[in-house]
Amino acid sequence: MCGIVGYIGHRQAYPIVIKGLKRLEYRGYDSAGVVLYDETGLKLSKTKGKVSDLEARAEKEITTTGNIGIGHTRWATHGVPNDVNSHPHLSNSGNLVIVHNGIIENYEPLKKELIKRGYVFHSDTDTEVLVNLIEEVKKQEHIKLGKAVQIALNQVVGAYAIAVFDKQNPDEIVAARLGSPLAIGVGEGEFFVASDASPFIEYTPNAVYLDDEEMAIISLKKPLKIRKIKDDSLVDPYIQELQMNLEQIEKGGFDHFMLKEIYEQPNAIKDTFRGRLRVDEGIVKVSGVEDNLQKFMNADRIIIIACGTSWHAGLVAEYIFEEFARIPVEVEYASEFRYRNPVIRPNDVVIAISQSGETADTLAAIKLAKERGAFVFGVCNVVGSSISRETHSGAYTHAGPEIGVASTKAFTTQITLLTLMALRISRAKGTMARADYFRYLQELELIPEKVQQALETNLEVQTIASIYKDAPNCIYLGRGYNYPVALEGALKLKEISYIHAEGYPAAEMKHGPIALIDERMPVVVIAPKQEHYDKIVSNIQEIKARSGKIIAIVTKGDTQVKALADHVIEIPETSDALSPLLATIPLQLLSYHIAVMRNCNVDQPRNLAKSVTVE
Ligand code: F6R
Repeated sequence: MCGIVGYIGHRQAYPIVIKGLKRLEYRGYDSAGVVLYDETGLKLSKTKGKVSDLEARAEKEITTTGNIGIGHTRWATHGVPNDVNSHPHLSNSGNLVIVHNGIIENYEPLKKELIKRGYVFHSDTDTEVLVNLIEEVKKQEHIKLGKAVQIALNQVVGAYAIAVFDKQNPDEIVAARLGSPLAIGVGEGEFFVASDASPFIEYTPNAVYLDDEEMAIISLKKPLKIRKIKDDSLVDPYIQELQMNLEQIEKGGFDHFMLKEIYEQPNAIKDTFRGRLRVDEGIVKVSGVEDNLQKFMNADRIIIIACGTSWHAGLVAEYIFEEFARIPVEVEYASEFRYRNPVIRPNDVVIAISQSGETADTLAAIKLAKERGAFVFGVCNVVGSSISRETHSGAYTHAGPEIGVASTKAFTTQITLLTLMALRISRAKGTMARADYFRYLQELELIPEKVQQALETNLEVQTIASIYKDAPNCIYLGRGYNYPVALEGALKLKEISYIHAEGYPAAEMKHGPIALIDERMPVVVIAPKQEHYDKIVSNIQEIKARSGKIIAIVTKGDTQVKALADHVIEIPETSDALSPLLATIPLQLLSYHIAVMRNCNVDQPRNLAKSVTVE
């Protein structure tokens, strides 16, 4: 899982590549590199560390001139993160250079074969094998780079997005993809190649997204050519106009992308509604659902597959779909589902949830579900992502780019979209009383404003964060719709502040975890005024009796929990099913502030990457 950027045209490549790599650091940030070419030859600089480390090194090590260049920001898969294993990689002749995102699974036999033919390897990477394989094919067959790339790629097993060029023909970059994303920016007399469109957004709105098993010959002398890697057939480049703007992908005055994205939620949720929720007319319309309404209405079961935070959104959806549409729901970790022998019945509908649309386990689970005959519906944020293409139908959350590694607005917009879907299906099936349906529509419309109010707890949350920032452990409890919110709160805390945190359904405490409670244990309890409120009050009493410290998320005006808890954070009132959209907000803020106070790298927590395109 890495980010790649390439440029060819009339501008200097270096600043474009470096800026682009910085925007792609969310894809991996353990090492980085760049290679440029001008009449003085190839200039390569790479280093362990972040793109800023690369910048400092490159500007000392090489002259940064040249109108062609490719760069890479890495999240290690083969070989430890060090200078040598960083990309770009050179072929043995020193003519070809490559950057690669993905994994070549059969690199070992290919490497052995190349060693027999006299090739020498400097790194432990699968990528160095690929560039030398391309070189060997090119040499043996006396063919152009594009053809050599195509033949080589037909020999590899795995996933890739690559950009490669030959210093003997510095007017051309060859790019290809299988399983890892790749976009081509098409400007006036210039081209960009990148893992997503953010590196070239200010230069051109025109982008071509390569499909799996496609390659592009990007030449300054000829029109852009796209071919199928397998059968060499030509594909007409489909140029899309990008809707994302630069402001959307920059920090917008916030200290961190995560905080910016937390604050974007009122608008992000409105964007999820856009064109789908018409309260006055009593209409909810999600086009993918509309097109497949019979399938959803006839579903005997919904299986939700996802990972991480998206899996938590799936758990909330389980409660919502069962309640609203009376369809049994199972929520599966994609990584488990793909390796089981799952029973898929004819009327099962699979919903795959993914912010990035690139998560390898979710993709593999989708493929398996399709093989078993299931209808698969995708809920994704990233438009044109692999999952959005792999599914039979789907709907986008329209949350906008999420750069912070910890998912925030992706979660709330996923829940919003899944709620809209459940409402539409329940209306069609007649499983919800008319009055309830209209009430939900009205309440949903108020959610962005209520999320805004929940954000106003920021200062109180910051004070609470300062009290608990050094706690070694933390427990999160919730019931019903807010049990998944407890899991999500705990995940947010552990992933960005490195504090050990666990989420439980509140009533499960007495089956074991209560043994952990003492005066040093902070317990975050999600306790809005809703069904089973009395039960959660009892759970709070059980914790208090063992001297645990209670931080409670309560409905505005609550008095009962307030009397018991050490701290309360008030959120606006809403119906039970919609309460996760509000209760999540202070939990995101709590983990954010604790992480900042602990000097953690909030946007790029250690060991993590934004889109997990490897298993
Ligand atoms: C946590 C987080 C991850 C992702 C998970 C799935 O904050 O971001 O747990 O939710 O890696 O990613 P997507 O939704 O892109 O499939």
